[in-house]
Amino acid sequence: MKTIKVKSPANIAFIKYWGNHDPHLVLPNSDTFSMNISHCFTTINMEIHDDPKHKILAIKKYRDADFERANAESLSRFLKYYESFRQYFGVKKDIGFDIRSENSFPLKAGIASSSSFFSGMALALNHAFNLGLSERELSIAARLGSGSATRSIPDGYVWWHQGNDSKSSFAESLAAPDYWDLIDVVAIVSYGEKSATSHAGHATASTSPLYQSRLKELKVRTKEMRAAFEKKDFTKFGTLCEEEAISLHAVMMTQRPAIYYWNGASIELMKKLQQLRQQNIEAYYTFDAGANMHIITEKKHLKAVQKYFEAQPEVEELIVNYPAIGTRLIK
Ligand code: DP6
Repeated sequence: MKTIKVKSPANIAFIKYWGNHDPHLVLPNSDTFSMNISHCFTTINMEIHDDPKHKILAIKKYRDADFERANAESLSRFLKYYESFRQYFGVKKDIGFDIRSENSFPLKAGIASSSSFFSGMALALNHAFNLGLSERELSIAARLGSGSATRSIPDGYVWWHQGNDSKSSFAESLAAPDYWDLIDVVAIVSYGEKSATSHAGHATASTSPLYQSRLKELKVRTKEMRAAFEKKDFTKFGTLCEEEAISLHAVMMTQRPAIYYWNGASIELMKKLQQLRQQNIEAYYTFDAGANMHIITEKKHLKAVQKYFEAQPEVEELIVNYPAIGTRLIK
């Protein structure tokens, strides 16, 4: 029996993906930019079976002792992905499998768990069917499962090109993990699952009256962020990260139906981060689709950031992440 093992990181987006113009092929409305994160990852163990009827997906959640069979919703999303993958790459063969997927971080809490899972599955299926896909093709394969997953395939700091069709919408590495010692400290304020899936949010993003102006602003912000990244201008980079997160959440809160991912603790921590900057400790926030704040800082400020946020009553736990490599097979 063939077994494939894969490890894949989640990523934190500095420029976010929100809304798409083709929900089946997951074609975004702008370029996006992210960093793979070292301590939030998914490990996948896939056993291949001869009987195509044998299709099992089990998940071990953060801090759970055992694997549990995926619920109907997760299984059906995965099986849909399996079909899209085969269709896209012209794979006729159907296989059976027993997949065990384990997360090092809380699921569905605004730390893109779909990014690490679907990127990992793209690589696992590539090996299951012996397709020999290139990194670019793997990033396309991951995108068919989840937009953010396309960015977890390459190493380090990753750019997802919007493109105008499936072939031209792919991710590539802009820089290796050691290019810049940025840190993403995730401040967990809630272990609860978010109120709405990103999947649902993408579908109604354009109902926000702010959406079109966001897309316009993004053209400028994306260029500025890329320039700040190239110069390693952390003040500019961090300021743009915060502007981008606010723009994203303003759209979320004004789309129909409105989505409120933040809770009171998220807002308290944003204010506290501003206060910390007044003490010359440079750090900035960003948020994905969830209440948990991602604190972006440089290594030289890490200790001070940790000390300050560990002492805040809103914080349940801090997860310190360094820039990481992308999706890999493991022994
Ligand atoms: C706000 O790629 O996770 O994190 O797979 O459909 O759930 P689904 O979407 P996903 O959306 C990510 C949204 C985001 C921004 C980002 O990561 O770019």
